[in-house]
Parts: sequence; structure tokens; C-alpha cells
Amino acid sequence: MEYSNIIFEKADGIAKITINRPQVLNALNADTVKELSHALQEAKNDGSVKVVIVTGSGEKAFIAGADISEIKDSFTKGPMAAKEEFSLPGQRLTTTIERLGKPVVAAVNGYALGGGSEIVQACHMAIASENAHIGQPEINLGFNPCWGGTVRLPRQVGRKKAFEMILTGEMIDAHEAHRIGLINAVVPLSELMQTVEQIAQKVVEKSSEAVRLCIDAVLQGLEMPQREALSKEANLLGLAADTEDAMEGVTAFLEKRKPVFADK
Ligand code: COA
Repeated sequence: MEYSNIIFEKADGIAKITINRPQVLNALNADTVKELSHALQEAKNDGSVKVVIVTGSGEKAFIAGADISEIKDSFTKGPMAAKEEFSLPGQRLTTTIERLGKPVVAAVNGYALGGGSEIVQACHMAIASENAHIGQPEINLGFNPCWGGTVRLPRQVGRKKAFEMILTGEMIDAHEAHRIGLINAVVPLSELMQTVEQIAQKVVEKSSEAVRLCIDAVLQGLEMPQREALSKEANLLGLAADTEDAMEGVTAFLEKRKPVFADK
């Protein structure tokens, strides 16, 4: 697939996807959602990619939400079209990120609004620059967040804060997002990509099999009662124990050397 709305780069085990529509603050139109979904699948299927970074081009916005110029068209066609053309593709996109089986880290370089905020929520980690603002402004447009925001946000920041953001539509700044646990850290914009790449590099060095099992355990465990989640965790350890990497990791520790993981 030729990408015209995103930039897709791969180097040293890291795939970087940059939404490249700075003239509309990297708002996601339907074509960009398709390209982003395709690039994520490409990263998933490429054995050399161990971590994915998602960011926006320019210094003002990560993603300013869905492209509002397309929303009216889809709403005009009626409820089914709005659901199928606007909500479900966005939900599939955020779920693809969350369930990629590889860590996806958001480098939040400015506004992360609506779908941009929902992408931050779907990512496994997120670092924001000091100028970043995150919010769910859909209520100001007369509708509800529909790419997972009403589902993931309360699970991540608690219902009171989620209601405040969803019902007032007001943005929070990067420090507040950090305080409530929506992002991992805040750094100056000039240090953002370097910081995100350093975190990505730490994960690149791990066994990608172990990383995949950890992601699976956390995401599935969050959706289960604790007793089932513990059982799931033990089963996943059984799978991990059967990998060459677990044997290598334990052996390397005992031999006082660095492990060399083969990702199997
Ligand atoms: N969809 C389509 N276009 C968008 C957009 C979006 N989500 N967000 C910004 N843009 C466009 C603006 O229309 C403007 O285009 P123009 O130069 O042709 O007028 C351009 O991006 C720059 O945005 P502008 O509003 O002039 O920048 P600002 O600094 O004054 O304000 C925001 C920045 C992010 C506060 C403001 O653009 C905004 O509120 N955007 C909409 C956010 C939103 O509601 N997202 C959820 C959608 S479901």
C-alpha cells in the first residue's frame, strides 16, 4: 500500500508511524484510518519489528481527532452509516493498537483530542511533550466519543475524572494527564522522540515472546475476575516456560552473562 497521509519507517526493531496531515493538525480522515490500520498490520507481520511508535508531524498536534469535515456526511446518511462508517472503523483501529501483540508507544507531541485521545488510551505506553493537551471534545459537537473513549478512559483514570473529561469536553494539560495516569511521563518537546525511543529500545532488547505474553496477560486479565486472571497468568507462564528465551534468560542469569534472546 502506498501511504500518502502517514510516514512509515522501520529501523533497529522499531517501526515509527507518523500521521502526516499537519495542515489539519493530523486529524484522521477515513483514508488515514485505513493507512494507519494497514501500517499497524504491516508492523505486526514483520518479525523484525518489536515495538511500534505512533506520533504526529509538526510541533502542535499528535492527532486532533477524527476529521470533522467527513463527520457531517456520515451523519447525514443516518444512524447505521454513522455507526459503520465513523464509529466501527475507529474502534477497530484502537483495538488493533491495543491487541497488536507488540507494544505500541504514543509520542504525544501536542493536541490529542477525540480519536487522538482514544489512540493514546489504546497504546500500551504514552509519553507527552509539555505542550500536549488531551481531551474528549465530542460533547461540544453534540455526540459521544465512539472510538473506545467512553470504555477505556473510565477504566484508566476512574469514572469521576472520565465523566469530567467526557461531559465538559475540556482538555487537560500534559502534567494533569500524567498525574491521573493517562500517560507515563512529560518531557520537553525537544526531548520527546529521544525519550520514547529510549523506552522502545529497552523493550526491543527483551524476548518478543515474553513481551507478547505480558501484554496478553495484562489486557485479558483486566477484563476478567481476579481468580480467572490469576489462572490465565499461570497458564501463560506455562507457555513462557516452553520457549527457548525463558530457558536462555534463566541460564544467562545463572551463568552471570547477558541473555541473547531468539524471540522463540
Ligand atoms: N478535523 C478537521 N479539521 C481540523 C480538526 C479536525 N478534528 N482539528 C483542526 N482542524 C483544522 C482546522 O479546521 C484548521 O483548518 P483551517 O486552517 O483550514 O481553518 C486547522 O486544522 C488548524 O486548526 P485551528 O482550529 O485553526 O487551530 P487552533 O490552534 O486555533 O485550535 C484546536 C486548535 C485543536 C483547539 C482546534 O483545532 C479544535 O478544536 N479542533 C477540533 C478538535 C475536535 O473537536 N476533535 C474531535 C473530533 S471528533
